[in-house]
Amino acid sequence: MNADDIRKVAVVGGGLMGSGIAQEFATAGYDVALQDISTAQLDSALTRMRENLTMLAEHGLVDAGFIDGIVAGITPATSLESTVSDADIVIEAATEDVEVKQGLFRSLSELCPSHTILATTTSAIHPDVFADATDCPDRVIVTHFGIPNYLIPLVEMARAEKTSDETSAVVFALLEKIGKRPIVMKRPLQGFIANRLQFAMMREALNIISQGAATPEDIDTAIQNNFGRRYGITGPLAIFDMSGLNVVLKVAGQTVPHLATSDAPFDYIREKVTDGKLGLSTGEGMYHWTSESAAALRRRLTDGLVAIEKWTRAQEGQ
Ligand SMILES: NC(=O)c1ccc[n+]([C@@H]2O[C@H](COP(=O)([O-])OP(=O)(O)OC[C@H]3O[C@@H](n4cnc5c(N)ncnc54)[C@H](O)[C@@H]3O)[C@@H](O)[C@H]2O)c1
Repeated sequence: MNADDIRKVAVVGGGLMGSGIAQEFATAGYDVALQDISTAQLDSALTRMRENLTMLAEHGLVDAGFIDGIVAGITPATSLESTVSDADIVIEAATEDVEVKQGLFRSLSELCPSHTILATTTSAIHPDVFADATDCPDRVIVTHFGIPNYLIPLVEMARAEKTSDETSAVVFALLEKIGKRPIVMKRPLQGFIANRLQFAMMREALNIISQGAATPEDIDTAIQNNFGRRYGITGPLAIFDMSGLNVVLKVAGQTVPHLATSDAPFDYIREKVTDGKLGLSTGEGMYHWTSESAAALRRRLTDGLVAIEKWTRAQEGQ
């Protein structure tokens, strides 16, 4: 099989991630089926997709005239069997729970045709956990998307021990066809690449806050106004080469011995969670939020990501 043989895409789980993935494949012209155990979730998935597409159209990233057709190209269902029985690839995006996902993979290996690729968007579960639940481990692979996936190009792919080269190559090519930037890990590591890096940085951010050396505002200001500006354009390892590795080594020698290495800094977050301070949803987390400031944050993030997407497309001559 190659990527051009894939016509029918089934997405299992219609939450934030599953609806976004269904939207991306439908926008690329695929026949998409979206399954969830909850009809309420399916209804809100369709509403969310239409809102996302309208926003993308307002920014000129999707043709407004295609929105009805894109949404009509997605068949919602609560039956897993009818959703996956003729799928060429299934992308599982159900709740991040090992038992739920293992159960789904057991069912998928029974219900799907013998050629179907079984992918999962797990954020951190090892690929072998999924492969071992099936009788087709060669066709199982992790495809970890970022949020909001329709404006974040990266998909981290991680192979199970028995994933075939063909499965990996087909999924890689398929993701490229729909405009994603896939990378395949040489071997799976817990948390893959992006989350490992983000949490390594967050550990130090919380360490700095816990030591009373800076406020959350200071940390966000430092990142946004320094390397955060560069990273969407040039990766940090290329920046190392611009700085000169001899310089990097000198600065590292002065800094790295003082960085946090335990998970103690996360006590700061643990205490907030215990106090019910979860972030936007509760009005308080790292900051205080009103419904207006929360909406403004969401809008600012979307507008910024749209601008970066347009800039990237212009650079690539698309
Ligand atoms: N949200 C993120 O930032 C993000 C980022 C990367 C990866 N992921 C991963 O994507 C997956 C989905 O995350 P989400 O944020 O969309 O979660 P979510 O809670 O928004 O959606 C999960 C959906 O799965 C459905 N579901 C639960 N059990 C099911 C079952 N047995 N069969 C079918 N559907 C079922 C739920 O009804 C719900 O609609 C998780 O594995 C998560 O780790 C999420």
